Amino acid sequence: MSKGLFITVEGPEGAGKSTILTELYNRLLQEGFNVIQTREPGGISIAEQIREVILNTGNTEMDKRTEALLYAAARRQHLVEKVIPALEEGKIVICDRFIDSSLAYQGNARGIGMEEVMDINQFAIEDKMPDLTLYFDIDPEEGLKRIAKHNGREVNRLDLESVDFHTRVREGYQKLIKQYPDRIQVIDASQSKEAVFGDAYGIVTDYLNK
Ligand code: TMP
Repeated sequence: MSKGLFITVEGPEGAGKSTILTELYNRLLQEGFNVIQTREPGGISIAEQIREVILNTGNTEMDKRTEALLYAAARRQHLVEKVIPALEEGKIVICDRFIDSSLAYQGNARGIGMEEVMDINQFAIEDKMPDLTLYFDIDPEEGLKRIAKHNGREVNRLDLESVDFHTRVREGYQKLIKQYPDRIQVIDASQSKEAVFGDAYGIVTDYLNK
């Protein structure tokens, strides 16, 4: 049984979740919490290597089921090598993306089906779901505009998809919010950075004080 707290951060491209995640991590650290920050796909060497294959803009021939399986493989390794050991030590783990990304991107946007993608992920996660998920909601066009302005950020294979694809990603997340209303908390990411951080911090501290 894990004693820690598993928090995931989700959202479409350009929602600003990674910046807020780092601020949240720093604030919790300052307050004396035993916290780690990590990301998917990646977070450890094997999963970072899988990330390079998945997100390489040259891999245009990648089949959508191959893509889903690679995300699930990276997830499995990251979970057993990093996340579960940290939770067992009682840490708060804040993870940039997890299973909801696969359900929204591969399940809904790629059209594999959310249930099918849940099935292959179940093999990888063996029921280990997040305790709390912060979902940063942004209109896909606005999100893609923000990425275009953000010089220096890597442009990955999924960023190159159409606005339609990113609209289906958001629809996928909206289905998940209905399915997991207690776990997934929605944050309006079109607000100022300060307001978005305030909402995220408020949700996490409410959860910790429960
Ligand atoms: P990032 O830009 O937030 O680091 O995420 C990398 C990309 O991978 C992003 O376009 C979302 C995508 N992704 C999936 O399609 N499925 C997944 O399961 C995960 C974790 C990420």
